[in-house]
Amino acid sequence: MKFAMLRLTTVAVLLAGAAGAHVGQHPSVHDTVAGAIDRMKQTIPHDALKALNVEQVLGVLTADERRVLATEHLSFDVNVPVDVYVVRDAALGAEPFWLAQEAFQPTDLRLTVGGDPFDAWKKSFDAGHVGLGVNSLTGAGDHYFAVIAPRDANAVVEIANIYPGRHTTGVLANGAQVYVDRDDLLAGEVPSPLDGALLLRGDNSRRKEAQLVNIFRVTPHPAGPRPDHVVLTWSADPKTTQAVQWRTNTATKTGKVQYIEKAKFHRFRAEKPNMVGAATAVLTNATLLNDTTVHRHTAVLTNLTPGTSYLYAVGDGSDDGWTELAEFTTAPDRAVPFSFVYMGDAQNGLDRWGSLVHNAYRERPDAAFYVMAGDLVNRGAERDDWDSLFQNAQGVFDRRPLVPCLGNHEYQNNDPSLYLDQLALPTNGPAAIGPERAYSFEYSNALFVVLDSNQLPETQTDWLDAQLAGSKATWKFVVYHHPAYSSSPKRDNPGLRKTWGAIFDKHHVDMALQGHDHAYLRTYPMKNEQRVASPAEGTVYVISVSGTKFYDQGDLDYIEYGMTNVATYQVLDIQISGDRLVYRAYDIDGNKRDELVIEK
Ligand SMILES: [Fe+2]
Ligand SMILES: [Fe+2]
Repeated sequence: MKFAMLRLTTVAVLLAGAAGAHVGQHPSVHDTVAGAIDRMKQTIPHDALKALNVEQVLGVLTADERRVLATEHLSFDVNVPVDVYVVRDAALGAEPFWLAQEAFQPTDLRLTVGGDPFDAWKKSFDAGHVGLGVNSLTGAGDHYFAVIAPRDANAVVEIANIYPGRHTTGVLANGAQVYVDRDDLLAGEVPSPLDGALLLRGDNSRRKEAQLVNIFRVTPHPAGPRPDHVVLTWSADPKTTQAVQWRTNTATKTGKVQYIEKAKFHRFRAEKPNMVGAATAVLTNATLLNDTTVHRHTAVLTNLTPGTSYLYAVGDGSDDGWTELAEFTTAPDRAVPFSFVYMGDAQNGLDRWGSLVHNAYRERPDAAFYVMAGDLVNRGAERDDWDSLFQNAQGVFDRRPLVPCLGNHEYQNNDPSLYLDQLALPTNGPAAIGPERAYSFEYSNALFVVLDSNQLPETQTDWLDAQLAGSKATWKFVVYHHPAYSSSPKRDNPGLRKTWGAIFDKHHVDMALQGHDHAYLRTYPMKNEQRVASPAEGTVYVISVSGTKFYDQGDLDYIEYGMTNVATYQVLDIQISGDRLVYRAYDIDGNKRDELVIEK
């Protein structure tokens, strides 16, 4: 790989290291952590596991494991002797453990990032390889970033082979962005040895990668031999297919779905139902102390008739193993009026969220599907949280398909695999970001494009453009997590707004359904980042929250209607006669809190 050069006399931001670059051998922090977790579960009583502190965890780790955690989290090569400063969240106290172990020296340098105090630890390295360690064992603290200064003030530092390649470089100065995945800026005077030096940005999504303290959990909803947590999604055309997924414990080895057109079902003389087998996968979540491994069954029903209601049950294929009959309806093959529900972050207070979802279903059983704009759960890498979500959604998501998108909380530890493994979704997204993370589908006369705002917007721009250009749908909706027009100035996502907003403008997207900011807002119709006169000219951006965590809202000039501390669900009615969209937001008690009508 070529060296990216930084001349200290020029202020330039360089991108170093191609995305995903993986150069040479890197003993995996991930594998080391997984091995330590397994050993801890086998050797330490479960009650004691929940109370372990950092010192006790360090005592459990072998010298080799401590070395991997101290040197293999973030690494790079330098061309000249350098001083490496690890600038960390000062609240971390004695963490990360490896600063002392690897003979980093504390300094009196202090910086401020996002309003929080950071301090700097220093160590000299010769030209060549530099390896840095994990952020913390408790999972606490924002991620550190590194500053690299030449030992000879006249030298020019060149940095190469950054691992992982997602980390980027820049110049440390007042106002510098210090994370690859957040907009937090350095504020105030930068002390002299650091000012103007090379900045290796931190990746906050990795800050809990080596959490070994307070990770062990018990699911309140362990699986049994009979199916539960049945969830409908679409992994292909909603007109002719239906994905059904559920779980059992590992004693149940197979899964089957029986289904029949509702019109052909008679209590005393039913036609023989169709039967389709499920793919059964082993789903293991190592940090669960009970029910660590379950079977996840996924069946995709195909060749269904559009616009048709079906009855179905899931089981293991034996006569007495079936669930009660439930019902789903395929998408129509022509433009017909329909309704759907959109919700923002559930994430916290999933019991109360369950009441809200059931209220939505009871009030509007005609709503065809449920869009969720990310942060379905708080701890996306921990299955007990998903168990709570699915438990509370029983009776709704087994009758109406869930249309989800990825929030930052699904990416806990940079690992959205529980979302991907538990939900069968379309694979028609851009190849660059991996299957099921973005996708699109049409329903009646509407197009839905679901994006992954955890990834760089540029990874999906061309694909988004092609989806919108290739559709003749009357209504165009986009769904993603991080809002283009935030609820608070501190949570702005300007890159996403500019990059995707231009494409929404180009194809006149009607509404953007977003989450993340834990408040409610609906913008004026916006185009080219300006307020326009009517939805006929621009896009309406909505943020909502369906769970119990709320943030404050700023007084922002693009907000047409905003509110805080209210969980809502939204029902969108697409009316064909007159081509009208009636959008309404309801609180948990069914009170209408906002309304918008768009006419074509
Ligand atoms: Fe979020
Ligand atoms: Fe959230």
